[in-house]
Amino acid sequence: MKQTDTPSALILLFGATGDLAKRKLFPSLYRLYRKGQLSEKFAVVGIARRGWTNEEFKSHVKASIMSSTKRVEQLDEFITHFYYQSHDVSDSDSYLALKTLSDQLDEQYQLQGNRLFYLAMAPEFFGTIAEHLKTDGLTDTNGYHRLVIEKPFGHDLPSAEELNDQIRKAFAERDIYRIDHYLGKEMVQNIEAIRFANALFEPLWNSRYISNIQVTSSETLGVEERGRYYETSGALKDMVQNHMMQMVALLAMEPPIKLSTEEIRSEKVKVLRALRPITKENASEYFVRGQYGPGQLEDEQLPGYREETNVDPESNTETYVAGKLMIDNFRWAGVPFYIRTGKRMPSKSTKIVVQFKDIPMNLYYQPDQPLAPNLLVIHIQPEEGITLHLNAKRSGQQLQTQPVKLSYANNSVDGMNTPEAYEKLLHDALQGDATNFTHWDEVALSWRYVDVISDAWEETKAEFPNYAAGSTGPKEADELLEKDGFSWWPMATLDVDVCN
Ligand code: BG6
Repeated sequence: MKQTDTPSALILLFGATGDLAKRKLFPSLYRLYRKGQLSEKFAVVGIARRGWTNEEFKSHVKASIMSSTKRVEQLDEFITHFYYQSHDVSDSDSYLALKTLSDQLDEQYQLQGNRLFYLAMAPEFFGTIAEHLKTDGLTDTNGYHRLVIEKPFGHDLPSAEELNDQIRKAFAERDIYRIDHYLGKEMVQNIEAIRFANALFEPLWNSRYISNIQVTSSETLGVEERGRYYETSGALKDMVQNHMMQMVALLAMEPPIKLSTEEIRSEKVKVLRALRPITKENASEYFVRGQYGPGQLEDEQLPGYREETNVDPESNTETYVAGKLMIDNFRWAGVPFYIRTGKRMPSKSTKIVVQFKDIPMNLYYQPDQPLAPNLLVIHIQPEEGITLHLNAKRSGQQLQTQPVKLSYANNSVDGMNTPEAYEKLLHDALQGDATNFTHWDEVALSWRYVDVISDAWEETKAEFPNYAAGSTGPKEADELLEKDGFSWWPMATLDVDVCN
């Protein structure tokens, strides 16, 4: 195995029998191990209610890895680092038993007291677990103690504050790693490089040259088995408060004085502070909601949201949100940031389209073919790359232009898949780098922003369903842009063309 600078660690994984651990965390840890990015000195304790033995847990981990990859070298060796502890989250005796096991593993693997507590489970237990970890002595070691915590972080500002107060009794802010898995995506991390490593873009990155920015994250899946959670959340809390607003903050922030955790966070926080507040009275001018009804996607007949398992047949929950965010600062005054996200859309795709203003005068104007605006498209997923849409002269005698595209496809550079978001985030947490995690100030400001919208929506019953499964969303989303003289760039086009 290659040498790594990742410190030794005991990883205590709460929710070890759950879906996230199986689909993302075990395969990510294994990939880090295989690449030599995990210290040789590590052990993982899987923690959950079920009364499994170490052996049962190990075969579960092994199966999850084997279903995610064909390359399984060193797997048996990797699995020897795994242990299991059946646990009751509100019982001190359980924590004392966990402490005994942890201390023993600490010695056996020479882990120097370093502990990463990963909470991949129902959010109602986050606070209780954090408090017990401290009071029952699991954080009484000489090494680091970090808490990695999955979303949702609260369901509104007051609940997030309460949770934060509870957690902060046991962990310092610098040791809390709040996951927003979009921040682990390669192309989301690339936003900063595109902006701050190119002389071409940064001088134009402001209200003088940009007319609007559109961020779309569409999914083909419906609510699947998550009806119970989704009914209390909806697209606004599930996607907008976190992933969408984080992307907006990265697009809009000022260049940090250096790329350190504190400096980047402080610039993102300033963007969130500059968001024009929405009131209950004007919420409908800025945000629209949708819910999918029955429909069709690639020959498959799909039920409406209200027919899904664990969903109220009269549900008022939105599965689609489109919004206009205004950032009232010097750089962005007057430039709308449009966002939209929805389930049961025609394609699974996340894209950012930066639309530049038209040039002052069009020398090439032809009545049937106006000049196309310049666009910078950042493809987050499934393709990863950037495309610059320009105009060039059409070959031949006439003075006509045609749109051309300059493309860069990130994931075909070396023929390898780029690392999974969770792999990068786990590595960062083990390294003690909190840059790609959300600071409490960001969480609080984004809740404050969306709470007003969600209050306004709770008070009025929407005319749902208002878009068919498999369609691009409700017509109100188009109207939101039309009244500003814009329209959405199509979800399905603007693809990356690979230049060879
Ligand atoms: C999660 C949401 O945070 O993000 C899900 O809870 C959503 O509802 C998912 O499906 C989308 O993530 P990705 O990486 O598939 O775009």
